[in-house]
Amino acid sequence: MNLLVIGSGGREHAICTALAESPRVSKIYAIPGNGGMAEIAECVPGIKATEIGKICDWAAGKKIDFAVPAADDPLCLGAVDALEAKGIPCFGPDRAAAQIEGSKVFSKSLMRKHGIPTAAFEVFDDAGGALRYLDAYETCPVVVKADGLALGKGVIIAQSREGARRAVREIMEDKKFGASGSRLVIEEFLTGPEVSVLSFTDGKTVVPMVSSMDHKRARDGDEGPNTGGMGAVAPNPFYTSEIAAQCMEEIYRPTIEAMRKEGAPFKGCLYFGLMLTPSGPKVIEYNCRFGDPECQAILPLLQRDLLDIFMACREERLHEIKIDWRDAHACCVVLASGGYPEKYATGYPISFGDTGDARIYHAGTKRLEDGTIVTSGGRVLNAVATGDALGGAIDKAYAAVEEIAFEGKYCRMDIGKRAMEVQ
Ligand code: AMP
Ligand code: GLY
Repeated sequence: MNLLVIGSGGREHAICTALAESPRVSKIYAIPGNGGMAEIAECVPGIKATEIGKICDWAAGKKIDFAVPAADDPLCLGAVDALEAKGIPCFGPDRAAAQIEGSKVFSKSLMRKHGIPTAAFEVFDDAGGALRYLDAYETCPVVVKADGLALGKGVIIAQSREGARRAVREIMEDKKFGASGSRLVIEEFLTGPEVSVLSFTDGKTVVPMVSSMDHKRARDGDEGPNTGGMGAVAPNPFYTSEIAAQCMEEIYRPTIEAMRKEGAPFKGCLYFGLMLTPSGPKVIEYNCRFGDPECQAILPLLQRDLLDIFMACREERLHEIKIDWRDAHACCVVLASGGYPEKYATGYPISFGDTGDARIYHAGTKRLEDGTIVTSGGRVLNAVATGDALGGAIDKAYAAVEEIAFEGKYCRMDIGKRAMEVQ
Protein backbone atom coordinates (compact mmCIF):
# COMPACT_ATOMS: atom_id res chain seq x y z
CA MET A 1 0.00 0.00 0.00
CA ASN A 2 1.06 3.58 -0.62
CA LEU A 3 0.61 5.82 2.40
CA LEU A 4 0.63 9.57 2.90
CA VAL A 5 1.55 11.11 6.28
CA ILE A 6 0.85 14.83 6.68
CA GLY A 7 3.05 16.77 9.11
CA SER A 8 6.72 17.39 9.82
CA GLY A 9 7.46 16.85 13.51
CA GLY A 10 8.90 14.15 15.74
CA ARG A 11 5.40 12.75 16.06
CA GLU A 12 5.13 12.26 12.30
CA HIS A 13 8.59 10.66 12.15
CA ALA A 14 7.55 8.21 14.89
CA ILE A 15 4.29 7.43 13.06
CA CYS A 16 6.13 6.91 9.75
CA THR A 17 8.63 4.61 11.47
CA ALA A 18 5.86 2.46 12.95
CA LEU A 19 3.93 2.35 9.66
CA ALA A 20 7.08 1.41 7.73
CA GLU A 21 7.26 -1.75 9.86
CA SER A 22 3.91 -2.94 8.50
CA PRO A 23 4.37 -5.68 5.87
CA ARG A 24 1.55 -4.20 3.81
CA VAL A 25 3.29 -0.86 3.31
CA SER A 26 5.26 -0.48 0.10
CA LYS A 27 5.78 3.28 0.02
CA ILE A 28 5.27 6.24 2.32
CA TYR A 29 5.02 9.86 1.20
CA ALA A 30 5.30 12.71 3.69
CA ILE A 31 3.97 16.24 3.23
CA PRO A 32 6.13 18.13 3.98
CA GLY A 33 8.21 15.69 6.10
CA ASN A 34 11.65 16.41 7.52
CA GLY A 35 15.30 15.35 7.23
CA GLY A 36 14.79 12.13 9.18
CA MET A 37 11.54 11.10 7.56
CA ALA A 38 13.36 11.42 4.22
CA GLU A 39 15.16 8.17 5.05
CA ILE A 40 11.96 6.12 5.11
CA ALA A 41 9.54 8.27 3.15
CA GLU A 42 9.53 10.36 0.02
CA CYS A 43 9.13 13.92 1.25
CA VAL A 44 7.11 16.27 -0.91
CA PRO A 45 8.64 19.70 -0.72
CA GLY A 46 6.70 22.82 -1.64
CA ILE A 47 3.37 21.84 -0.11
CA LYS A 48 2.51 22.85 3.44
CA ALA A 49 0.51 20.61 5.78
CA THR A 50 -2.23 23.25 5.83
CA GLU A 51 -2.62 23.51 2.04
CA ILE A 52 -5.46 21.03 1.83
CA GLY A 53 -6.43 21.84 -1.76
CA LYS A 54 -2.86 21.38 -2.99
CA ILE A 55 -2.52 18.14 -1.03
CA CYS A 56 -5.67 16.76 -2.66
CA ASP A 57 -4.48 17.81 -6.12
CA TRP A 58 -1.11 16.19 -5.50
CA ALA A 59 -2.73 12.99 -4.18
CA ALA A 60 -4.99 12.74 -7.23
CA GLY A 61 -1.87 12.15 -9.35
CA LYS A 62 -0.57 9.35 -7.12
CA LYS A 63 -2.07 6.10 -6.04
CA ILE A 64 -2.50 6.82 -2.31
CA ASP A 65 -4.25 3.98 -0.50
CA PHE A 66 -4.40 5.50 2.95
CA ALA A 67 -3.62 8.90 4.49
CA VAL A 68 -2.75 10.03 8.02
CA PRO A 69 -3.10 13.76 8.63
CA ALA A 70 -1.25 13.81 11.95
CA ALA A 71 -1.15 17.47 12.96
CA ASP A 72 -3.91 19.62 14.46
CA ASP A 73 -4.07 22.34 11.78
CA PRO A 74 -4.83 20.12 8.77
CA LEU A 75 -7.35 18.12 10.81
CA CYS A 76 -9.18 21.24 11.99
CA LEU A 77 -9.12 22.58 8.42
CA GLY A 78 -10.91 19.46 7.18
CA ALA A 79 -8.08 17.42 5.63
CA VAL A 80 -9.95 14.17 6.32
CA ASP A 81 -13.20 15.43 4.76
CA ALA A 82 -11.34 16.62 1.64
CA LEU A 83 -9.23 13.48 1.16
CA GLU A 84 -12.12 11.11 1.83
CA ALA A 85 -14.20 13.04 -0.71
CA LYS A 86 -11.46 12.21 -3.23
CA GLY A 87 -11.76 8.54 -2.32
CA ILE A 88 -8.66 8.39 -0.10
CA PRO A 89 -9.34 6.63 3.22
CA CYS A 90 -7.89 8.45 6.25
CA PHE A 91 -7.06 7.87 9.89
CA GLY A 92 -8.23 10.90 11.81
CA PRO A 93 -11.31 12.92 12.74
CA ASP A 94 -13.29 14.90 10.21
CA ARG A 95 -13.61 18.63 10.61
CA ALA A 96 -16.72 18.44 12.78
CA ALA A 97 -15.07 16.04 15.24
CA ALA A 98 -11.74 17.90 15.22
CA GLN A 99 -13.56 20.81 16.86
CA ILE A 100 -12.99 18.97 20.12
CA GLU A 101 -9.49 20.48 19.91
CA GLY A 102 -10.15 23.34 17.52
CA SER A 103 -12.67 25.09 19.76
CA LYS A 104 -12.39 25.25 23.53
CA VAL A 105 -15.95 26.60 23.65
CA PHE A 106 -17.11 23.46 21.82
CA SER A 107 -15.17 21.07 24.08
CA LYS A 108 -16.09 22.80 27.34
CA SER A 109 -19.77 22.98 26.36
CA LEU A 110 -19.68 19.30 25.38
CA MET A 111 -18.30 18.38 28.79
CA ARG A 112 -20.83 20.51 30.64
CA LYS A 113 -23.77 19.13 28.66
CA HIS A 114 -22.69 15.50 29.07
CA GLY A 115 -21.46 15.64 32.68
CA ILE A 116 -17.79 14.97 31.94
CA PRO A 117 -15.57 16.24 34.78
CA THR A 118 -13.63 19.41 33.90
CA ALA A 119 -12.77 22.80 35.46
CA ALA A 120 -15.77 25.08 36.11
CA PHE A 121 -15.94 27.75 33.41
CA GLU A 122 -17.78 30.54 31.62
CA VAL A 123 -17.71 31.48 27.92
CA PHE A 124 -17.50 35.08 26.66
CA ASP A 125 -17.76 36.59 23.22
CA ASP A 126 -16.98 40.16 24.20
CA ALA A 127 -14.27 41.72 26.34
CA GLY A 128 -16.75 43.74 28.42
CA GLY A 129 -18.61 40.66 29.68
CA ALA A 130 -15.34 38.86 30.50
CA LEU A 131 -13.95 41.88 32.38
CA ARG A 132 -17.16 42.31 34.40
CA TYR A 133 -17.08 38.61 35.30
CA LEU A 134 -13.47 38.96 36.51
CA ASP A 135 -14.47 41.94 38.73
CA ALA A 136 -16.54 39.55 40.79
CA TYR A 137 -14.10 36.61 40.57
CA GLU A 138 -12.82 35.74 44.03
CA THR A 139 -9.94 33.30 43.67
CA CYS A 140 -6.63 33.41 41.83
CA PRO A 141 -4.90 32.02 39.86
CA VAL A 142 -7.55 31.99 37.18
CA VAL A 143 -7.19 30.52 33.69
CA VAL A 144 -8.03 32.41 30.48
CA LYS A 145 -8.18 30.42 27.23
CA ALA A 146 -8.59 31.67 23.67
CA ASP A 147 -11.25 29.61 21.88
CA GLY A 148 -9.29 28.45 18.84
CA LEU A 149 -5.90 26.95 17.99
CA ALA A 150 -3.08 29.27 19.05
CA LEU A 151 0.09 27.18 18.63
CA GLY A 152 -0.24 26.01 22.24
CA LYS A 153 0.02 29.58 23.51
CA GLY A 154 -3.65 30.42 23.93
CA VAL A 155 -3.81 29.40 27.60
CA ILE A 156 -2.90 32.04 30.17
CA ILE A 157 -2.67 31.17 33.85
CA ALA A 158 -3.13 34.55 35.52
CA GLN A 159 -1.79 34.89 39.04
CA SER A 160 -3.84 38.04 39.72
CA ARG A 161 -7.12 39.57 38.63
CA GLU A 162 -5.15 42.30 36.87
CA GLY A 163 -3.16 39.66 34.95
CA ALA A 164 -6.41 38.00 33.89
CA ARG A 165 -7.81 41.33 32.70
CA ARG A 166 -4.65 41.86 30.67
CA ALA A 167 -5.04 38.41 29.10
CA VAL A 168 -8.67 39.16 28.16
CA ARG A 169 -7.65 42.44 26.50
CA GLU A 170 -4.75 40.81 24.66
CA ILE A 171 -6.95 38.03 23.33
CA MET A 172 -10.06 40.03 22.48
CA GLU A 173 -8.94 43.61 21.84
CA ASP A 174 -5.33 43.25 20.60
CA LYS A 175 -6.25 39.99 18.79
CA LYS A 176 -2.97 38.43 19.90
CA PHE A 177 -4.12 35.05 18.56
CA GLY A 178 -6.11 36.40 15.61
CA ALA A 179 -9.54 34.92 15.01
CA SER A 180 -8.80 32.23 17.62
CA GLY A 181 -9.59 34.88 20.21
CA SER A 182 -13.01 36.03 19.10
CA ARG A 183 -14.40 33.99 21.97
CA LEU A 184 -12.73 32.93 25.20
CA VAL A 185 -13.19 30.71 28.21
CA ILE A 186 -12.44 31.75 31.78
CA GLU A 187 -12.00 28.74 34.01
CA GLU A 188 -11.15 27.58 37.47
CA PHE A 189 -7.49 26.78 38.21
CA LEU A 190 -7.02 23.10 39.01
CA THR A 191 -4.15 21.39 40.80
CA GLY A 192 -2.68 17.89 40.69
CA PRO A 193 -0.40 15.78 38.54
CA GLU A 194 -1.04 15.92 34.80
CA VAL A 195 -1.39 12.76 32.74
CA SER A 196 -1.65 12.41 28.97
CA VAL A 197 -3.80 9.53 27.82
CA LEU A 198 -3.96 9.04 24.07
CA SER A 199 -6.57 6.65 22.75
CA PHE A 200 -7.56 4.91 19.57
CA THR A 201 -11.22 5.21 18.74
CA ASP A 202 -13.53 4.32 15.87
CA GLY A 203 -16.36 6.47 17.19
CA LYS A 204 -17.86 3.60 19.21
CA THR A 205 -15.03 1.71 20.89
CA VAL A 206 -12.24 3.52 22.72
CA VAL A 207 -8.92 1.88 23.54
CA PRO A 208 -6.54 3.93 25.69
CA MET A 209 -2.83 3.65 24.93
CA VAL A 210 -0.08 3.52 27.52
CA SER A 211 -0.28 6.67 29.67
CA SER A 212 2.46 9.29 29.52
CA MET A 213 3.83 12.43 31.10
CA ASP A 214 4.77 15.50 29.07
CA HIS A 215 7.28 18.13 30.23
CA LYS A 216 5.92 21.37 28.79
CA ARG A 217 8.14 24.03 30.33
CA ALA A 218 11.42 24.98 28.68
CA ARG A 219 13.72 24.56 31.67
CA ASP A 220 14.57 22.05 34.39
CA GLY A 221 12.28 21.98 37.40
CA ASP A 222 9.27 22.99 35.26
CA GLU A 223 10.50 26.56 34.96
CA GLY A 224 10.63 28.90 31.99
CA PRO A 225 8.08 29.45 29.24
CA ASN A 226 5.65 26.86 27.90
CA THR A 227 6.85 24.94 24.84
CA GLY A 228 5.39 22.36 22.50
CA GLY A 229 6.89 19.77 24.92
CA MET A 230 10.51 19.12 25.95
CA GLY A 231 10.26 15.43 26.67
CA ALA A 232 7.99 12.62 27.83
CA VAL A 233 8.02 9.38 29.72
CA ALA A 234 5.62 6.44 29.45
CA PRO A 235 3.87 5.03 31.37
CA ASN A 236 2.97 7.80 33.85
CA PRO A 237 3.39 6.48 37.42
CA PHE A 238 0.60 8.71 38.79
CA TYR A 239 -1.90 6.89 36.58
CA THR A 240 -2.85 3.77 38.55
CA SER A 241 -5.14 1.03 37.26
CA GLU A 242 -7.88 2.32 39.62
CA ILE A 243 -7.63 5.79 38.10
CA ALA A 244 -7.62 4.26 34.61
CA ALA A 245 -10.85 2.41 35.37
CA GLN A 246 -12.45 5.56 36.78
CA CYS A 247 -11.41 7.58 33.69
CA MET A 248 -12.88 4.94 31.38
CA GLU A 249 -16.26 5.21 33.18
CA GLU A 250 -16.36 8.94 33.76
CA ILE A 251 -14.37 10.41 30.88
CA TYR A 252 -13.37 8.21 27.92
CA ARG A 253 -16.60 6.37 27.17
CA PRO A 254 -18.81 9.39 27.95
CA THR A 255 -16.74 11.55 25.58
CA ILE A 256 -17.01 9.10 22.68
CA GLU A 257 -20.73 8.76 23.38
CA ALA A 258 -21.19 12.53 23.63
CA MET A 259 -19.51 13.12 20.27
CA ARG A 260 -21.79 10.55 18.67
CA LYS A 261 -24.87 12.13 20.22
CA GLU A 262 -23.77 15.54 18.96
CA GLY A 263 -23.62 14.16 15.43
CA ALA A 264 -19.82 14.41 15.30
CA PRO A 265 -18.51 10.89 15.95
CA PHE A 266 -14.78 10.98 16.56
CA LYS A 267 -12.55 8.54 14.69
CA GLY A 268 -8.79 8.64 15.10
CA CYS A 269 -6.52 9.37 18.03
CA LEU A 270 -8.27 11.25 20.80
CA TYR A 271 -5.89 12.72 23.37
CA PHE A 272 -7.16 13.25 26.90
CA GLY A 273 -5.10 15.82 28.81
CA LEU A 274 -6.05 15.01 32.40
CA MET A 275 -5.38 16.50 35.78
CA LEU A 276 -5.63 14.18 38.78
CA THR A 277 -7.20 16.67 41.17
CA PRO A 278 -8.02 16.02 44.86
CA SER A 279 -11.66 15.59 43.74
CA GLY A 280 -10.86 13.11 40.97
CA PRO A 281 -9.55 13.12 37.40
CA LYS A 282 -10.69 16.06 35.26
CA VAL A 283 -10.18 16.94 31.61
CA ILE A 284 -7.83 19.89 31.06
CA GLU A 285 -7.94 19.62 27.29
CA TYR A 286 -8.70 17.32 24.40
CA ASN A 287 -6.47 17.05 21.35
CA CYS A 288 -7.73 15.55 18.12
CA ARG A 289 -4.40 13.81 17.32
CA PHE A 290 -1.35 12.17 18.85
CA GLY A 291 0.53 14.38 21.33
CA ASP A 292 4.05 15.46 20.55
CA PRO A 293 6.34 14.34 22.25
CA GLU A 294 4.09 11.74 23.92
CA CYS A 295 3.71 9.86 20.62
CA GLN A 296 7.48 9.40 20.30
CA ALA A 297 7.62 7.74 23.74
CA ILE A 298 4.52 5.61 23.28
CA LEU A 299 4.80 4.10 19.81
CA PRO A 300 8.06 2.20 20.51
CA LEU A 301 6.09 0.29 23.17
CA LEU A 302 3.34 -0.78 20.75
CA GLN A 303 3.35 -4.43 19.77
CA ARG A 304 0.80 -4.37 17.01
CA ASP A 305 0.85 -3.28 13.39
CA LEU A 306 -0.09 0.42 13.52
CA LEU A 307 -1.65 0.36 10.05
CA ASP A 308 -4.01 -2.44 11.16
CA ILE A 309 -5.17 -0.28 14.05
CA PHE A 310 -5.57 2.82 11.87
CA MET A 311 -7.64 0.92 9.32
CA ALA A 312 -9.79 -0.69 12.02
CA CYS A 313 -10.54 2.77 13.46
CA ARG A 314 -11.63 4.08 10.09
CA GLU A 315 -13.71 0.99 9.33
CA GLU A 316 -15.40 0.99 12.75
CA ARG A 317 -14.13 -2.43 13.76
CA LEU A 318 -11.72 -1.50 16.51
CA HIS A 319 -13.45 -3.99 18.83
CA GLU A 320 -12.02 -6.81 16.66
CA ILE A 321 -8.42 -5.73 17.20
CA LYS A 322 -6.23 -6.76 20.11
CA ILE A 323 -3.69 -4.10 20.99
CA ASP A 324 -0.70 -5.15 23.07
CA TRP A 325 1.98 -3.04 24.68
CA ARG A 326 5.44 -4.00 25.85
CA ASP A 327 5.66 -4.16 29.62
CA ALA A 328 8.48 -1.61 29.57
CA HIS A 329 9.23 2.08 30.02
CA ALA A 330 10.14 4.74 27.50
CA CYS A 331 11.80 8.13 27.74
CA CYS A 332 11.90 10.82 25.04
CA VAL A 333 14.25 13.80 25.39
CA VAL A 334 13.75 16.71 23.00
CA LEU A 335 16.86 18.46 21.68
CA ALA A 336 16.03 22.07 20.87
CA SER A 337 17.66 25.07 19.23
CA GLY A 338 19.12 27.63 21.64
CA GLY A 339 16.48 30.32 22.24
CA TYR A 340 13.44 28.09 21.61
CA PRO A 341 10.49 28.68 22.25
CA GLU A 342 11.36 32.29 21.46
CA LYS A 343 13.89 33.38 18.84
CA TYR A 344 16.41 30.87 17.54
CA ALA A 345 18.71 30.43 14.55
CA THR A 346 18.57 27.54 12.06
CA GLY A 347 20.76 25.97 9.37
CA TYR A 348 23.38 24.43 11.68
CA PRO A 349 24.79 21.04 10.63
CA ILE A 350 24.04 18.16 13.00
CA SER A 351 26.47 15.36 13.79
CA PHE A 352 25.20 12.05 15.09
CA GLY A 353 27.65 9.88 17.01
CA ASP A 354 26.95 6.38 18.24
CA THR A 355 23.41 6.67 19.57
CA GLY A 356 23.22 2.95 20.34
CA ASP A 357 19.78 1.41 20.19
CA ALA A 358 18.06 4.70 21.00
CA ARG A 359 15.66 5.88 18.31
CA ILE A 360 16.31 9.33 16.94
CA TYR A 361 13.17 10.96 15.62
CA HIS A 362 13.67 14.15 13.70
CA ALA A 363 11.51 17.27 14.03
CA GLY A 364 13.03 20.56 12.85
CA THR A 365 15.66 19.14 10.50
CA LYS A 366 16.31 19.35 6.79
CA ARG A 367 18.40 17.13 4.52
CA LEU A 368 20.56 19.10 2.10
CA GLU A 369 21.36 17.76 -1.37
CA ASP A 370 24.78 16.57 -0.24
CA GLY A 371 23.10 14.53 2.51
CA THR A 372 24.03 16.84 5.40
CA ILE A 373 21.31 17.19 8.00
CA VAL A 374 20.86 20.73 9.29
CA THR A 375 18.62 22.29 11.91
CA SER A 376 15.46 23.95 10.60
CA GLY A 377 13.20 24.46 13.61
CA GLY A 378 12.88 25.04 17.35
CA ARG A 379 12.47 21.44 18.40
CA VAL A 380 15.13 19.66 16.37
CA LEU A 381 15.40 16.01 17.42
CA ASN A 382 13.97 13.49 19.86
CA ALA A 383 16.14 10.87 21.52
CA VAL A 384 13.92 7.96 22.59
CA ALA A 385 14.96 4.90 24.54
CA THR A 386 13.08 2.05 26.16
CA GLY A 387 14.01 -0.24 29.03
CA ASP A 388 12.60 -2.67 31.56
CA ALA A 389 12.98 0.05 34.18
CA LEU A 390 12.36 3.78 33.78
CA GLY A 391 15.84 4.63 35.08
CA GLY A 392 17.47 2.56 32.34
CA ALA A 393 15.34 4.17 29.63
CA ILE A 394 16.24 7.65 30.89
CA ASP A 395 19.99 6.84 31.04
CA LYS A 396 19.96 5.42 27.50
CA ALA A 397 18.09 8.42 26.10
CA TYR A 398 20.57 10.85 27.70
CA ALA A 399 23.53 8.78 26.52
CA ALA A 400 22.22 9.25 22.96
CA VAL A 401 21.71 12.98 23.60
CA GLU A 402 25.42 13.26 24.47
CA GLU A 403 26.38 11.78 21.10
CA ILE A 404 24.50 14.40 19.09
CA ALA A 405 26.02 17.81 18.41
CA PHE A 406 24.84 21.02 16.75
CA GLU A 407 25.36 24.69 17.43
CA GLY A 408 23.08 25.94 20.22
CA LYS A 409 21.80 22.45 21.19
CA TYR A 410 19.91 22.43 24.45
CA CYS A 411 17.63 20.05 26.29
CA ARG A 412 16.14 19.65 29.72
CA MET A 413 18.32 17.47 31.91
CA ASP A 414 15.47 16.29 34.16
CA ILE A 415 13.07 14.44 31.86
CA GLY A 416 11.58 11.61 33.91
CA LYS A 417 12.93 12.87 37.25
CA ARG A 418 9.47 13.53 38.72
CA ALA A 419 8.27 10.14 37.49
CA MET A 420 11.28 8.43 39.13
CA GLU A 421 10.44 10.10 42.46
CA VAL A 422 6.89 8.73 42.61
CA GLN A 423 7.46 5.28 41.17
P1 AMP B 1 -3.50 23.54 27.00
O1 AMP B 1 -2.97 24.50 25.99
O2 AMP B 1 -4.98 23.47 27.09
O3 AMP B 1 -2.78 22.24 26.90
O4 AMP B 1 -3.00 24.09 28.42
C1 AMP B 1 -1.65 24.23 28.65
C2 AMP B 1 -1.35 23.90 30.08
O5 AMP B 1 -1.96 24.85 30.94
C3 AMP B 1 -1.87 22.56 30.56
O6 AMP B 1 -1.02 21.49 30.25
C4 AMP B 1 -1.93 22.78 32.05
O7 AMP B 1 -0.65 22.61 32.63
C5 AMP B 1 -2.29 24.24 32.16
N1 AMP B 1 -3.72 24.39 32.41
C6 AMP B 1 -4.70 24.48 31.49
N2 AMP B 1 -5.90 24.61 32.09
C7 AMP B 1 -5.68 24.60 33.41
C8 AMP B 1 -6.52 24.70 34.58
N3 AMP B 1 -7.84 24.85 34.48
N4 AMP B 1 -5.92 24.64 35.79
C9 AMP B 1 -4.60 24.50 35.90
N5 AMP B 1 -3.75 24.41 34.86
C10 AMP B 1 -4.28 24.46 33.62
N1 GLY C 1 2.29 17.44 24.13
C1 GLY C 1 1.09 18.15 24.08
C2 GLY C 1 0.50 18.28 22.74
O1 GLY C 1 0.86 17.61 21.80
O2 GLY C 1 -0.39 19.10 22.60
